[in-house]
Amino acid sequence: MVANLLDGRALAANLRSELRIHARTFTAAHGRAAHLALLAVGDDQNALLFGQQVIKVCRAIGVAYSLTRYAADVSEAAIRAQAAHASADPATDGVVVLLPLPDGVRQRAVTEVLAPAKDVDGLGPRNAGNLMLGFPSFVPGTAEAVMTLLGQTGLTLRGKHAVIVGRSNVGGKPVALQLLRHDATITICHSRTPNLAEITRAADILVVSVGRPRAITAAMVRPGAVVLDAGINPTPHGIVGDVDFASVREAAGWLTPVPGGLGPLTHLMVIRHTLLGPTP
Ligand SMILES: NC(=O)c1ccc[n+]([C@@H]2O[C@H](COP(=O)([O-])OP(=O)(O)OC[C@H]3O[C@@H](n4cnc5c(N)ncnc54)[C@H](OP(=O)(O)O)[C@@H]3O)[C@@H](O)[C@H]2O)c1
Repeated sequence: MVANLLDGRALAANLRSELRIHARTFTAAHGRAAHLALLAVGDDQNALLFGQQVIKVCRAIGVAYSLTRYAADVSEAAIRAQAAHASADPATDGVVVLLPLPDGVRQRAVTEVLAPAKDVDGLGPRNAGNLMLGFPSFVPGTAEAVMTLLGQTGLTLRGKHAVIVGRSNVGGKPVALQLLRHDATITICHSRTPNLAEITRAADILVVSVGRPRAITAAMVRPGAVVLDAGINPTPHGIVGDVDFASVREAAGWLTPVPGGLGPLTHLMVIRHTLLGPTP
């Protein structure tokens, strides 16, 4: 078997065209373009790359943006105050804190002061809580990208066994909650999970967000399974995912490439949320 590839780039191009229309509608309704505020602390390359990708799309579709940068040694109190200030500004529609933050700035201390209605990355406690409760909420981009690409397979999620490897607040946890909401049966694995391969081999749907290059091999995948890879791991030979693409392609039924799978969709989600509001 050779897996069907789930092409995030093609889907992202369609979504960008849709967002362009929503951006125009927003401008007509409010007399100004929607405005997304990005806060960056330090010089983590992944955080800055994500920010640049968001900015590129904002420019292309007609959403205003601002990028406020702080040195890595800024105090937690200062960045917390700026997050609160940005989200209180009536001319700002969404605020995204670029992650990871440097040591010494706790993510929670910054995201908990964002107004829930402007926390478009869904990382504050109100949105995360609403997601858990099944209420409308802003859902972190990776989880939305997973659901969007799963939609491409045409498979029903009800009753499927979804195994999620990784339990981060931006990755594994919201993915699991979204799949649960769609009636999948979920198993969440992490670094203390024994017999990982035995569990992943039982998955109809396998979502991996661990940050370890090629950690999931073909022997860990049930033939025909849907495999979604959130990993973005720089190597001397370029970016690779958490899934060993070459071997898993011969086993899975559906597979996301890295790059070109979940990544291109993820950064569009904060813009979609800024224009359209929370996921019902
Ligand atoms: N596609 C995107 O747009 C996107 C967005 C965000 C992140 N990412 C990428 O996704 C990857 C993961 O990032 P993240 O922020 O979700 O996770 P993270 O915060 O780096 O945490 C990694 C998770 O993987 C688990 N883990 C580590 N080693 C493991 C092992 N050997 N077996 C099973 N589980 C293991 C950890 O378990 P413990 O909890 O027990 O430590 C933890 O839950 C990175 O490559 C990151 O760059 C991609």
